[in-house]
Amino acid sequence: MKLAALTAARAPVCCAAMHAESTGDGKRPVERPIELAPEALRGKVALVTGGAAGLGKGVASALLEQDAVVAIADIDAELGAATAEQLACHFIELDVRDLDANRRAVEETVAKFGGLDLLHLNAGVESPFTLGDDFDVDAYRRAMAINLDGVVFGFHAARPAMIASGGGSVIATASLAGLAAMAPQPVYGTNKAAVVGLVRALGPMHIAEGIRVNGICPGFADTAIIEGVREALTAGGVPIIPVKAVADATLRLFADDVNGRLLVIQAGVEPYYFRFPGLPRAR
Ligand SMILES: NC(=O)c1ccc[n+]([C@@H]2O[C@H](COP(=O)([O-])OP(=O)(O)OC[C@H]3O[C@@H](n4cnc5c(N)ncnc54)[C@H](O)[C@@H]3O)[C@@H](O)[C@H]2O)c1
Repeated sequence: MKLAALTAARAPVCCAAMHAESTGDGKRPVERPIELAPEALRGKVALVTGGAAGLGKGVASALLEQDAVVAIADIDAELGAATAEQLACHFIELDVRDLDANRRAVEETVAKFGGLDLLHLNAGVESPFTLGDDFDVDAYRRAMAINLDGVVFGFHAARPAMIASGGGSVIATASLAGLAAMAPQPVYGTNKAAVVGLVRALGPMHIAEGIRVNGICPGFADTAIIEGVREALTAGGVPIIPVKAVADATLRLFADDVNGRLLVIQAGVEPYYFRFPGLPRAR
């Protein structure tokens, strides 16, 4: 795979290292840091999908450090149980493609911990094929089902429990590939762009229910999902984000008072909220 194609998914480094906030007078935005207030997540009940490994495991671990109560859910039962034992949290076997299984995972979390405050819809897989000769319809359906249905079903299943808990904070793991062209894996770029669109639409829709919905858009992060391209990235000097950096940014997003926003996370750059260009006015 060509490095130029891989790095096409990297967003330009943005100078807005902070959270841009309107001054209210329609003039210049002011910047404020995205901070995690002490004890903001203490005692919150969290469910993290794809929590057996990688970014989900990192987020679960960071949540536990903040004294949150954590359930991880994953299709890999053996690894999930081992991770739960290692982190000292609860494990639920879950295939995010199954709506009823998502409902059961939420029910189990609520039954064990008494509610649901934080939801990280994070399970995902790469989609290493094109629409050319290597196209495989089963691989396509699987990638769309895990990366997109998994977020749709996860939110739908959790919403009643979050309302019953007095509201909550939902984060979907999208990707920089959902904001920039992801030439080598067009289906991955497509399902991640769909997650971006979903987050933007859901954010304003559930404010009245006390539910905030946001997304994270990491660049290449240090997990198993990049194994197939790690060598090329390293050879090309492409920085790889430590899992802890993604986890720390995700926790700040859980606690930040924003809705429908996408947090860009790159190596060596303060996380920042992506600003979408406005649409041209209809004539
Ligand atoms: N690592 C990166 O460079 C990067 C960058 C941007 C976005 N992401 C996204 O981050 C998320 C986490 O990926 P990661 O990098 O930690 O990879 P990973 O492979 O380390 O972890 C993914 C986890 O999801 C689980 N999973 C896969 N299919 C599942 C299913 N059907 N139901 C439940 N669990 C399932 C796996 O068992 C695994 O534990 C994914 O959505 C991925 O697309 C990763």
